[in-house]
Amino acid sequence: MKVRVVADAPAGAFITVRLVFKDQRSELVPPPTKGEFSGAVGTLLADRSAATLYVGLGERSKLDAAAVRRALGSAALALRKRSQTYVLLQLEELPQFVSAAVEGVVLGGYRYEAFLPKKTAPLAELVVVQAKADVAGAKKAAARGQSLGEAVNAAREIANTPGNLLYPETLAAAAAALAKKSDLRFRVLDERALKAGKFGGILAVGGGSARGPRLMALEHAGGRKGEAPLVLVGKAITFDTGGISIKPAAGMEEMIFDKCGGMAVLGAMQAIAELGLKRNVVGILAAAENMPSGTAYRPGDIVTMRSGTTVEIVNTDAEGRMVLGDALAWACQEYKAAQLIDLATLTGACGVALGDSAAGLWSNDDSFRSQVEVAALESGERLWPMPIFPEHSEQIRSQVAALKNSGGRLGGACTAAAFLKAFVGETPWAHLDIAYTAHQSKDAHGLAGGATGFGVRTLVRLAANGV
Ligand code: BES
Ligand code: MN
Ligand code: ZN
Repeated sequence: MKVRVVADAPAGAFITVRLVFKDQRSELVPPPTKGEFSGAVGTLLADRSAATLYVGLGERSKLDAAAVRRALGSAALALRKRSQTYVLLQLEELPQFVSAAVEGVVLGGYRYEAFLPKKTAPLAELVVVQAKADVAGAKKAAARGQSLGEAVNAAREIANTPGNLLYPETLAAAAAALAKKSDLRFRVLDERALKAGKFGGILAVGGGSARGPRLMALEHAGGRKGEAPLVLVGKAITFDTGGISIKPAAGMEEMIFDKCGGMAVLGAMQAIAELGLKRNVVGILAAAENMPSGTAYRPGDIVTMRSGTTVEIVNTDAEGRMVLGDALAWACQEYKAAQLIDLATLTGACGVALGDSAAGLWSNDDSFRSQVEVAALESGERLWPMPIFPEHSEQIRSQVAALKNSGGRLGGACTAAAFLKAFVGETPWAHLDIAYTAHQSKDAHGLAGGATGFGVRTLVRLAANGV
């Protein structure tokens, strides 16, 4: 999509989008009838002439970037479905929200259609109208919003790709292509290299699949040589059957989204490179397919991890922490991470605790936790702080090894976090469980159904704020 910022609206076959606060409803001519248009965030009213689309912006007093992003997301979603691809956005009154507005249109205009028999046309052009004095600043803001939105969509496109097409090897090819395009250094460890490096966790999980695991890194060298990097780590299980501890059939198709932590890292690295952030950032993806087979790991196995820590397998479906444990240890050893953050669709228990409107946040460092919270708040992605009590760590102690890979049902999201904590040493670390925020079953919140790209925006902010 082409994005332009102008002071005078051009002529042409544009549909005009106007944002309307709740209290402005009565000013519309003719005023909407009751029930026709509430003005709540993201509600839509198509003008009788169909040349204007009114978009609810909710309560004036509650206005923030998230409301603007969501409102324009649902507008863009509707416009794409109606094949109205030339969009004019009157935004003179809200110059401070240009970036969020463009982000919203880019995000809402995305749908996964690779295999649909009838495709819709993507939005062709967005013209943002601003007061003359605001045009220059708005151009920069629009460019930022667009590149962030596009990075999120890049993450969503790969995340939406199913397991028959996307597996560790093809994911590594996609990541390599993205790295090349974005001028990032790319490294990949294949099965041989993983064996040589004794990545016991990744090898155990990947062992059941005919398609071997991969560990990859994308490096952004924006800072001084030798400056310790911020390291982003993502769980990228390309499909999670549960392995020998197999999952029930109902809903298993959703496990194509078990790679979304990794996809968030990929999207963030694309944006970090494009924004040219002046610091060193490394993105690591731990990719494997969790399958049951004659070569699969099994309950009762004892696995020696990359760090040397031994793990008793009590449930092969607790695979995310196995690949992440190795990836986190590698981030500390290989990259001497200054700060470390991982994202993972790690536990159903996180959804039980928080629902699907917030990701859980765990950390071993109060100051780093605050930095992550600030970044999330600024980007409109909701996180909620969760504990790691000594009891959670005790719950995953094994009789036959240092750790076991599941502590059972109680506090399942917290014991998973406690497991990860054992692999980061003293490095300031945060963990985001995005199991229920990474994808949605239908169009909602100004985003099409499927992968949401949750986490990309928080990661980019986190990296940008630290400069
Ligand atoms: N990928 C799942 C977590 C998940 C569940 C994500 C539902 C999204 C929706 C993860 O690998 C898993 O299976 N976790 C287990 C852990 C348990 C065996 C300790 C779980 O949550 O049941
Ligand atoms: Mn699992
Ligand atoms: Zn999983």
